[in-house]
Amino acid sequence: MAPRTSPEVGGMGHSIKRKEDPRFVRGQGTYVDDIRLPGMIYLDIVRSPFAHATIKKINPSKALSIPGVLAVITGQDLAKYNLHWMPTLMSDTQMVLPVDKVMFQSQEVAAVLATDRYIAADGVEAVEVEYDPLPVVVDPKKALEPGAPILRTDKKDKKDNHIFHWEVGDKSATEKAFAAAKTTIRQDIYIPRIHVASIETPGCVAQFDKVTGKLTVWLTTQAPHAIRTVVALVAGHVGLSEEKIRIIAPDIGGGFGGKVPVYPGYVIAIAASVLTGKPVKWVEDRMENLQADSFARDYHITAELAAEKDGTLTALRIKTIADHGYTDAAANPSKFPAGLFGICTGSYNLKAAHVQVDGAYTNKPPGGIAYRCSFRVTEAAYAIERMVDIMAHELNMDPADFRRKNFIPADSFPYKSALGWEYDSGNYDAALTKAMEKIGYAGLRKEQAEKRTRGELMGIGISSFTEIVGAGPSKHFDILGLKMFDSCEIRVHPTGKAIARFGTKSQGQGHETTYAQIVAEELGIPASHVLVEEGDTDTAPYGLGTYASRSTPTAGAAGAMAARKIRDKARKIAAHLLEAREDDLEWEPGKFFVRGNPGNAKTIQEIALAAYTNHPQGTEAGLEAVSYYDPPNLTFPFGSYICVVDLDKGTGEVKIRRFVAVDDCGNIINPMIVEGQIHGGLTMGMAPALYEEINYDEEGNIQGGSFMDYLLPTAVETPNWETDKTCTPSPHHPLGAKGVGESATVGAPAAIVNAVVDALWHLGVRHIDIPITPAKVWKCLRDHGVSE
Ligand code: CDP
Repeated sequence: MAPRTSPEVGGMGHSIKRKEDPRFVRGQGTYVDDIRLPGMIYLDIVRSPFAHATIKKINPSKALSIPGVLAVITGQDLAKYNLHWMPTLMSDTQMVLPVDKVMFQSQEVAAVLATDRYIAADGVEAVEVEYDPLPVVVDPKKALEPGAPILRTDKKDKKDNHIFHWEVGDKSATEKAFAAAKTTIRQDIYIPRIHVASIETPGCVAQFDKVTGKLTVWLTTQAPHAIRTVVALVAGHVGLSEEKIRIIAPDIGGGFGGKVPVYPGYVIAIAASVLTGKPVKWVEDRMENLQADSFARDYHITAELAAEKDGTLTALRIKTIADHGYTDAAANPSKFPAGLFGICTGSYNLKAAHVQVDGAYTNKPPGGIAYRCSFRVTEAAYAIERMVDIMAHELNMDPADFRRKNFIPADSFPYKSALGWEYDSGNYDAALTKAMEKIGYAGLRKEQAEKRTRGELMGIGISSFTEIVGAGPSKHFDILGLKMFDSCEIRVHPTGKAIARFGTKSQGQGHETTYAQIVAEELGIPASHVLVEEGDTDTAPYGLGTYASRSTPTAGAAGAMAARKIRDKARKIAAHLLEAREDDLEWEPGKFFVRGNPGNAKTIQEIALAAYTNHPQGTEAGLEAVSYYDPPNLTFPFGSYICVVDLDKGTGEVKIRRFVAVDDCGNIINPMIVEGQIHGGLTMGMAPALYEEINYDEEGNIQGGSFMDYLLPTAVETPNWETDKTCTPSPHHPLGAKGVGESATVGAPAAIVNAVVDALWHLGVRHIDIPITPAKVWKCLRDHGVSE
């Protein structure tokens, strides 16, 4: 889409520089840890060395004898106010501080308040806790076996470790399709626990003013309004009332889903501030962050796919066990305990599908957050893209041809999937064709064949994923009952400049720039003169926040709708100023003019001034509007990625030689920002494919709890991403835009794994579970007698 506005106005389609970057690149951002208040005290947390143990005794006396240590807070203390447990976003319960037992290694056990961060840490070291270890359950499959130790003994009627059963699709139609199929395949696929590992760890500063009764919390949150309501509901009985709670999410150093949950540290800090009347700061360190914060993935998938003789796919069947740790603290919409995993039929025209997911409790930190992913979409896309690739190889068909044969045809949108989603738009063939041309697919296949004759291992992997973002329509989507609309309020000042406030919260995605561009697009006010604010519940309109690539589909749409309301009013004012009838006026970005006489015009700036100095009698003064946008459907961005790898037979190392990513997010607001989102997302998609994993030994000891063990890729490991795009606008979004923030994280892992398996298929290798480390590849090569 060619931009409609000039570069000076900077509406949609202009790659204007990010307004937020001057402060970020100069180190002048204001993050939670930058907040310093007079009289502030510090909180640090005692954590459990055991994965499952009874707490026999907590002795604070040595800690309290350290000068500067002010208090040691235990679960017993919080129990006096009924604050030792809190609800999770999935209506489960989570301990703030335990009263009798701990459920995972590094769980919060007690909190120390001190005059200084380092004294608080000394206090933590000095708290003496006696534990009595209990049997540990780390494997979710074993957790569901009869006779497994029951973990949630706090739930009186709970007789097993099963959290939920969820299923969707037509079971009997799927069974029939499998019975009739010429070829069926079955594969166990494990997607391990990983961690978002954002640059900034979670934290807060809680300030309770005993005089006014007002609580202000600077918080690393992706969803400030929802948190305010949750705090009011959970702590209403101790006098915290919603109008006196102000949540401020200042600059946020990466969220990726990890800053949606409420962490115990937040609640303890708030309780401590209410009790002491002093501002209390709590900021996690890196190891606490990796060891105790919410995790993503941990899906044990068994997938089956059925095809006819000519390679036409007919049915998909999936059973999954989801490890949620000791409590279900996923941040899913309430009606979707397995998130949007039901998008797992992907880009393919499958006539039948049936999917089941069972959640299990284990002695691990709560998991199941949407790590740069629209609620389990990465798991879904990975499963279907691996299965399609295995089937193509099994049928001895080229994986690109096989996909093309089975894609949902471009002329069948809107398309109802076998699992019930209505895809708004798509053109999968166009994206794959572009990616194949860009990478030189035919030539690469020839090169691969030649190399194979020389014993060299080269692989080409494709991932043609479909996403589902923009949760969501209020008839289906809520979190704890709060409907998942989003909002925007715009005020145009007399001099024609504007402030726009949104219910979302950027964590690095560039909302201050792109939202200003939306207002510029709709009103013609230069983006440089539109100030965007988010994250302060005292000023921003109520919204459900930023995660799951929902900002553009929901709040971005609200921005356009609020601007259009302003334009409607501006038309009335222009008609008054031009002494013309409203329907004789035409709009072009930035001005109304009388039809047939473009010189007879009033600019938005002149109209704004008149709104405060010369408004038509009988019309209210001022120029502002608010929109709460309830999307009619989700948006379905998609893409085709192709990855070329070479395997080192001596070390097992996977070298990504080329990676082409063609994305389609409909109309683009800022092409440079979208490309940045995709670059970052691709590296975050490569991470679990090749490096990242957090697992546990049999005693529940975490492996991967520091950056020594958790292999976060850096610029050194990151290959040169080659990006391109197609454009299939969303038919229902006011701007034709779809979300994009997580596309690359969702699509990349399968492309890489498919490439590795493609390099090894002729040896008899069907699947390798991620992360595909050099050790795993080398062992595989050795087992097949081809290592060097
Ligand atoms: O919710 P989140 O901001 O993470 O996701 P998003 O809606 O996918 O947007 C990520 C960034 O890309 C935002 O700055 C958007 O405004 C921008 N974007 C864009 O410029 N054009 C699109 N079609 C989609 C997103």
